Amino acid sequence: MKKIAVFTSGGDAPGMNACVRAVVRTGIYHGLEVYGIMYGYDGMINGEIKKLQTHSVSNIVQRGGTILKSARSDDFRTREGRQKAYEQLQKHGIEGLVAIGGDGTFTGADLFAKEFGMKVIGCPGTIDNDIYGTDYTIGFDTALNTALEAIDKVRDTAAAHDRIFFIEVMGRDSGYIAVECGIGGGAELVMVPETKTTISDVVKSLKGLRKTKTSSIVIVAEGDEEGGAAEVMSKVKNEVNDDRMDFKVTTLGHIQRGGNPTAKDRILGSRCGLAAVEGLMEGKTNCMAGIIHDEVAYTDFQDCINKDKPLNKDYLRLVDILSI
Ligand code: F6P
Repeated sequence: MKKIAVFTSGGDAPGMNACVRAVVRTGIYHGLEVYGIMYGYDGMINGEIKKLQTHSVSNIVQRGGTILKSARSDDFRTREGRQKAYEQLQKHGIEGLVAIGGDGTFTGADLFAKEFGMKVIGCPGTIDNDIYGTDYTIGFDTALNTALEAIDKVRDTAAAHDRIFFIEVMGRDSGYIAVECGIGGGAELVMVPETKTTISDVVKSLKGLRKTKTSSIVIVAEGDEEGGAAEVMSKVKNEVNDDRMDFKVTTLGHIQRGGNPTAKDRILGSRCGLAAVEGLMEGKTNCMAGIIHDEVAYTDFQDCINKDKPLNKDYLRLVDILSI
């Protein structure tokens, strides 16, 4: 293998740049030519491919976002789109790909590899931490800390006004961000898609907490069955029907995706990037380079895509016990 390319796809995540840097520098270290594809699969289809040098990735390890830009591509979902992408890669003589993204990215990569015989290794880049085959995903730690910082600030004002705040965090169908920032932020209640919490459960808890606390924080994962924070708040308000309870909503939104990556995300991104390139060189394909118990682990794309990464239920118990 002489030429490889790297791209970022799906929602950006802090630490993706550290991963891109590691791919480029590891490739060059081993004598490969490394190309960067802009805008993920869309850029692959449109031929937005450029050769990268060691200095192309200088001064990016500390930056959030992705210098390669990102996109969610509809065209790549079609056979015609993937055919065009393959032709573009052939034009540049690219034989191997490093795909940095989440399960949507890996689904496309797996199909592409099977259809065209392209060698592809993924790196887990998403704030959601919802990918099987790695203890953590690149970007999760930074997003968690960003959310935590915001929650601390909301708590100050919640306490000052004796209010109950419903704070919505990202995570798509996963409750990792919610539960971990619930523990770190001392939340009174956490609602996640992995466990059912009914509106009556929430009302009962809040009424109980009212006896000892004047303010409370409820973290709502955006994918919770009862809806987002605004919906949950309005349902709770209706059921409580008590004007003395003052409810507010804060949706943290995309601030969770930005900012300088934490040390953990820079290191994780760097380790996965290096492992992906060396994996390609050893002939590995259709798999993701992740880290399990502090060791590099390659997991088949099919497992990354289809297997659940269960939430540690002890974490929810921890929130319950510590919120009394
Ligand atoms: O997968 C990362 C993520 O930030 C999810 O937590 C969220 O549901 C989604 O992306 C938002 O996507 P977009 O930025 O396209 O609105």
